[in-house]
Formats: sequence, C-alpha cells, structure tokens
Amino acid sequence: MDVEGNKILITGGATGIGLELAKIFAKDNEIYICGRRKEKLDEAKKILPSIHIKVADVRNPKEIMEWAKDINILINNAGIQRAIDLKEGIKGLEGENEIKINLEATIYLSTLFIPFLESKKEAAIVNISSGLAITPLAAVPIYCATKAGVHTFTKCLRSQLSDTSIKVFEVLPPIVISELNMEYRKKVGTTNTGIKSDKCAASIVDGLEKDKFEIENPALENLKTATMKDIDKLFEKMNGRW
Ligand SMILES: NC(=O)c1ccc[n+]([C@@H]2O[C@H](COP(=O)([O-])OP(=O)(O)OC[C@H]3O[C@@H](n4cnc5c(N)ncnc54)[C@H](OP(=O)(O)O)[C@@H]3O)[C@@H](O)[C@H]2O)c1
Repeated sequence: MDVEGNKILITGGATGIGLELAKIFAKDNEIYICGRRKEKLDEAKKILPSIHIKVADVRNPKEIMEWAKDINILINNAGIQRAIDLKEGIKGLEGENEIKINLEATIYLSTLFIPFLESKKEAAIVNISSGLAITPLAAVPIYCATKAGVHTFTKCLRSQLSDTSIKVFEVLPPIVISELNMEYRKKVGTTNTGIKSDKCAASIVDGLEKDKFEIENPALENLKTATMKDIDKLFEKMNGRW
C-alpha cells in the first residue's frame, strides 16, 4: 500500500511504537493521534508540529469518530498490559481493563470506521496485536487473551473486507522497549529487553508498503510452520511447566 499521501489516525500515538510511527509517517502523510494524557500529546505536538492531537479514550469511540470522515488509515495501537496473579482473586480483574481497551475498542473502532474507509480509493485498518497472541506469557494473562482476540478478529475482518477497498493488516511485535507495563518490567528487570520502538515502527511501515498483511517478528516466522506441539514447547520455555 502507498505509505505517502494518507490521512492516518494512530490511537495511543503520543508514546512508544505509536509515536515512532507518527514520526516516520509525518514526513509524507497527515497524522492524527489520540490518547488520554494531554501532556504526552502536547510533547508529541512539540516534536511534530504538523500533527493533529486530541485527548480521547478509545473506550469512548464518539470522541474519535469526529475525525472519521477524513481518515483513510486507522491504526488501532492504544493498549495497556497488566501483570495479574489470578490466585489473588477477582480484584486483579477490576479497574483499568485490557478487555475494554485492547480488544473491545479495536473491534468497535474497526467496525465504526468501515463505512468511512470504504468510501476512500485506498484505505487500511492496522491492528497491533502481539507475539503474545500466539505464545502467551502467563504473568500477563488477560493481555495475552485480548491480543489473541485481536489476532482472531483481524483475520475475520480481513476476510469480510476482501471485496472492499480496505486492506486489513495485523502487526505482531516482539518485545519492544517502551512504557508498556513499566511496573512489571522494573520488577522482573526487563526495562531494556527488546527491540527499540523506532525499529519496530520502521518494520511496520515496511510491511505496509509491501502489503504484508501479517507483520510478524522474526521469532514468529518459524511459528508459521510450527505445529501445536512446537508452540506448546515454546510456551513451556517461557512460562515453565504446569
Ligand atoms: N512494548 C511491547 O513489548 C509490545 C509488544 C507487542 C505489542 N505491543 C503493543 O503495541 C501497542 C503500543 O504499545 P507501546 O509498547 O508503544 O506502549 P506505550 O508507549 O505504553 O503505548 C500505549 C499507548 O496507548 C495509549 N492508551 C492506553 N490506553 C488508552 C485508552 N484507553 N485510550 C486512548 N489511548 C490509550 C497510551 O496513552 P495514554 O495512557 O495517555 O492514554 C499510550 O500512548 C500496544 O497495543 C501494545 O500492546 C507492545
């Protein structure tokens, strides 16, 4: 797909992978970003004065739909991750919730944008899932479940939109150095583990340009030909034996 001359909405675009995508795209595209923290959006606007910013929560699509008529590429990037000990009971499931932010908002925004995107000559929906959608990390169980949901939803969306002008991409990044779940990363000493977010963003742009509809990380290339047994082995390696 053409990665120039677009109007691109990146949810959660003020930090991490989203901000790095905005930096690359801002050279040749019009960029719209949203997030909940005004100060982060203002910082992004200082770096990239041409971008449009809006304080908006993806759980309230109305706030974002004001931009819908202009956009031809929607990037569902906003996400949170929490470490949850399921043995501690229902308390861990309360409060800010991956199901609403990572999964439900991706489903709602994708669906609400379809009529607007369909009217554009070339359009795309890009859903950021995770390598953890395929091989989960038990310490972040709800996160992994929501990303597996995004993976499955995106496949169905791609199939249903195959007779429209809307291309549907999924990105399955490896571990990326960012603010995501910093509390847990500090606890387990992985704040500097992973690829840099600018490298991740560059690989996403490259994948979009090449119409690679599932933009995966190199570790997952092998998983494409893996059996269920191979995937179980990897799960065991990451999480220990149950
Ligand atoms: N880092 C990794 O290792 C990794 C690996 C695979 C996939 N991913 C995925 O990549 C995406 C970007 O994550 P990142 O690593 O770049 O982390 P990040 O810097 O924490 O980015 C997440 C962004 O989402 C925004 N956000 C969270 N909840 C929101 C809501 N309800 N409404 C609007 N915006 C919201 C956050 O801003 P506010 O808090 O200001 O709203 C933040 O800017 C996520 O979907 C994540 O799951 C990350």
